[in-house]
Amino acid sequence: MKVITAIAEMRSLSRALRMEGKKIGFVPTMGFLHEGHLSLMRRARSENDVVVASIFVNPTQFGPHEDLDRYPRDAEGDRAKCEAVGVDLLFMPQAPDLYPEKPAVFVVVEGISEVLEGAVRPGHYKGVATIVAKLFNIVQPHKAYFGQKDFQQCAVIKRMVAGLDLDVDVVVLPTMREPDGLAMSSRNSYLDKEERRVAAAVWRALSEGERLFQTGQRDAAVIQGAVRSELLREPGILIDYVAIVDPDSFTPQAVIESRTMMLVAVRVGRTRLIDNLQFL
Ligand code: PAJ
Repeated sequence: MKVITAIAEMRSLSRALRMEGKKIGFVPTMGFLHEGHLSLMRRARSENDVVVASIFVNPTQFGPHEDLDRYPRDAEGDRAKCEAVGVDLLFMPQAPDLYPEKPAVFVVVEGISEVLEGAVRPGHYKGVATIVAKLFNIVQPHKAYFGQKDFQQCAVIKRMVAGLDLDVDVVVLPTMREPDGLAMSSRNSYLDKEERRVAAAVWRALSEGERLFQTGQRDAAVIQGAVRSELLREPGILIDYVAIVDPDSFTPQAVIESRTMMLVAVRVGRTRLIDNLQFL
C-alpha cells in the first residue's frame, strides 16, 4: 500500500491508472476506522482493480461549536487496517493543501441539505458536498462507496453527482453495527461506559418501530410515538429528531410505504448519534 499526501501525486497516479484501463474504487473517510469503513473498502476491493481510500478530517463540514478539534485520530492504526483489507493507495491530504485560503468556493445541494441533519447542523452538507466533489476531482474514481449509516449524506452526494454530471457511480452499503445494535461510528469513542450503555437505546427504538411496521402498522405518527417513548425510557438521551420521510425528497410521510425512511438523531452527553432504518 502506498500512502500519498500530495494532491498532484494522487491526481497523476489516478490519471495513469485510468489510462491503463484500470477501474478505480474510492472510499472517502475521516479516519479512526472501524468495521463500517472497512466493509466499504472490502466491497471496493471486490469490485475494482485499484482501491483508493482517503482520510481527511474536513474542517468545512464542522460547525463552529462542533468537535473538529477533538475528532478522534489514529493514523498508524488506520494505515494498518487499510493495508489489511487491501487498499492500494491511501490518500491523506493536508488541510492547507486542500484549503490554501479561506474557502470561497462551495458545492451546495439545495433542499435536502436543509432538513434534519442539515437543519441541526447548518452548513454541514455544504462542507460535505464540497470536499467530496474535490476528492472526486483529485482521485477520479469510477465508483465511490458510502454507508447507509449517513443516509442523508448519501442522498446529498447522489444529488451532487447527478446535478454536476459527475462521472462517478455512487454505491451505498448497509450500516455495520455492534453486537447490541449500536451503529458503528468513530464518535462512539467519545462515550463513557454508562453513555455507551444508554446509546444502545437508539437501535432498540428503531427496532421497535420496525416491529410495529411488521405487525401491519402504517401510521407514521404511531410509529414515531413508539420510537420516541422507547428513547425516552433512557433519561440520558436527548432527542434531536425522530423523522419518517420519503427517501428521495426527505419530506415527512404520514403513511409509511415501502422504502420510507425512519431517521433518528439524539444526544448522549456531549455526543451526537444518528441512525436510520428503511421500511421495506
Ligand atoms: P466518516 O464518518 O469517516 O465515514 C466515512 C464513510 O463510512 C461514510 O460513507 C459513512 O457513511 C461510512 N460509515 C460510517 N459508519 C458506518 C457504519 N457503521 N456502517 C457502514 N458505513 C459506515 O462520512 C464521512 O466520514 C465524511 O462526511 C466524508 C464523506 C468522508 C466527507 O468528509
